[in-house]
Formats: sequence, structure tokens, C-alpha cells
Amino acid sequence: MTFDELFALLRRGTEHADEERVDLLDHSLQCAALLAERHPGDRELQIAGLVHDIGTILRPDDPAQHASTGAAAVAPLLGHRVARLVSWHADAKRYLVTTDAGYRKRLSARSIVTLEAQGGAMSETEVAALAAAPDLAALLELRRADDDAKVIGLAVPALDTWRPLLTGASTRVRGIR
Ligand SMILES: [Fe+2]
Repeated sequence: MTFDELFALLRRGTEHADEERVDLLDHSLQCAALLAERHPGDRELQIAGLVHDIGTILRPDDPAQHASTGAAAVAPLLGHRVARLVSWHADAKRYLVTTDAGYRKRLSARSIVTLEAQGGAMSETEVAALAAAPDLAALLELRRADDDAKVIGLAVPALDTWRPLLTGASTRVRGIR
């Protein structure tokens, strides 16, 4: 995937609903903007926020697999850490539902429906596995921003403002190889 292809895909988020009256492009831009506000020093987390639901655009017929589909698609361009955050963002919801008594109340009606398709609450073994995962704090921050990024009509920076940040991330990925 090239940057042009990635941005064309993100733009197609307007064809998909995240919530009623919040399309997937709005949701992605809100999620990235919230993470930029809350974690200005973590560019990869912001980028993960922007692309976390791209699997839904690639495979709208397979919502349960949207996290892994998106992660596989962005890994070559955006690197391992961004891909891992994308890959686990649905599991992070299952983790928080299981470990944080007040979390379920924050979920939208649609998120509760998809929670069941994604496996529902976690087993003790699954919780322990994710708790030991690297980057758990960032993953949970992505999830909380994801849950908050559903505001009808919120004004946030446009998609093209993210292009320099993403291009920089990719340059670093190629530099490491
Ligand atoms: Fe999302």
C-alpha cells in the first residue's frame, strides 16, 4: 500500500457509519485528534488512532476481524508498533470490559453489539496475556480515545493535515530496515 492508497481508503470512511450521524472518517479524525491532545509526544499512537478502523473499510463484511485486517494492511507502511496497536484495539475493549467495572457504561450501543461478535468479556488467561503485553498503556489510551471519538459535528483537523506525520513515520520504518 502507498500513502496515496492509504489516504484514499481513509477518505472512503465517509461511506461507512461509525455511529448514527458520525461516519468512519469523522470518527478516525476525532480519535487521532484526541490522542494528539492527550499524548502530543506519541506520534505512533496518534497515527494508530487515525488508521485503527481501516479494516472496516477494507472488509466491511467481516467486522469481527477488522482489527487484524487493518493491522496487516498498515504494517509495511507504518511499522510494527502502529500495526500492533491497531491489531489489539478490539481486544482492548474486551480487556477493559472485564477489568474495569465502570467501563461498559462508556461504550456506545453499537460498540456493545460488536463486543459480542469480538468475543465478549475475556477469560482470566486472556486478561493475563494482555496485561503482560508490551505497550499496554498506549493500547488502552487508543481504546479510550476510540470510545470518545463519536461526537456529532465535532470540528477537528482535516485528513490532509496528518500527511506529514504519517510520511515521517514511514521514513523511520524504512530507515530501521
Ligand atoms: Fe473505532
